[in-house]
Amino acid sequence: MNSSAPTLVFFSNTDDPAPWQAAIAAAVPSITFRVAPHTGPVDAVRYALVWKPPRGWLAQFPNLRAILSLGAGVDALLEDPALPPGIPITRMVDAGMGRQMAEYATYAVMHFHRHMQRYSALQREGRWAPLEPVAAARFTVGIMGLGVLGAQAAQMVASLGYPVLGWSRTTKQLPGVEVLSGNDALPGFLGRTRLLLNFLPLTPATRGVIDAQLLAMLPRGAFVVNLARGGHLVEPDLLAALDRGHIAGAMLDVFEQEPLPATHPFWRHPAVVVTPHVAAVTQAEDAAAQVIANLQRLERGEMPVGLVDRGAGY
Ligand code: NAP
Ligand code: GLV
Repeated sequence: MNSSAPTLVFFSNTDDPAPWQAAIAAAVPSITFRVAPHTGPVDAVRYALVWKPPRGWLAQFPNLRAILSLGAGVDALLEDPALPPGIPITRMVDAGMGRQMAEYATYAVMHFHRHMQRYSALQREGRWAPLEPVAAARFTVGIMGLGVLGAQAAQMVASLGYPVLGWSRTTKQLPGVEVLSGNDALPGFLGRTRLLLNFLPLTPATRGVIDAQLLAMLPRGAFVVNLARGGHLVEPDLLAALDRGHIAGAMLDVFEQEPLPATHPFWRHPAVVVTPHVAAVTQAEDAAAQVIANLQRLERGEMPVGLVDRGAGY
């Protein structure tokens, strides 16, 4: 094991390293902070703080002790065939993202429940046409994935009087939310869902889960909101369901290919709202304390918190 001062390498094409560097230097001055591609001697690197490093990039550090994800979802890391084995991987646990996700989810629910998509279209046509209101109490919201982020969204939406159904792998109790769990419960969950919100992690078990079969189990006129990962949604199946009117609208923050290609039909589809993967953004101001506490644990020889289960994929 290398005995020189431990180095943390930072890799992200979307996060500014400066606030991370300042926060970590102030709290853990014994760690040298380097920003990729200027990693310094590879054998001094003990920690990697990363968002979507290229496949194989982490394998160059022979003395890596832990990988700290700048995001909540670690699917891109786990898909790296050269991911260093046997060392802890941590992920962001809330870190300010729960509130952001709950806001986005609540906005999406109200956008579709209050017919805003249809009123935008009517405005473009210059038509004054009041639509039949729907009581919030009759607009059931179904949430797939009731972890750190899904649970907060569920509670914010429920607090506004919408019936909220949740679906997760294992059962749990959430005030104001009816929780169903396991694959057998999925058809019943979908059959009662007027607006589906996806908060699942992308794993081998959840890739492509929102496909033609799942969409067909939603009632005609349902809405789909994907805030988790593009790989959950079979995009041609959603387009087909929208075009036949089975699904009435979609709000999509994440896509199989990001940035969404300029020619993709979602950009111009009248029933689709596109946002550029911004439902919840890691901000150093909210998240650095979590990373610093883990670095301090690791430097003391303790296990970090927010550990990813490599077998489960999240
Ligand atoms: P989390 O705490 O790990 O929660 C995951 C939830 O999904 C848990 O309730 C889990 O069930 C459930 N789940 C996992 N596999 C399942 C399966 N096969 N069937 C049914 N339920 C399953 O994750 P989180 O922190 O809430 O984050 C969720 C995801 O949000 C991330 O993985 C990421 O992809 C996405 N995200 C997107 C953005 C954005 O800006 N768009 C930002 C941050 C995160 P159990 O509770 O039974 O384990
Ligand atoms: C963003 O998508 C994240 O996983 O944090």
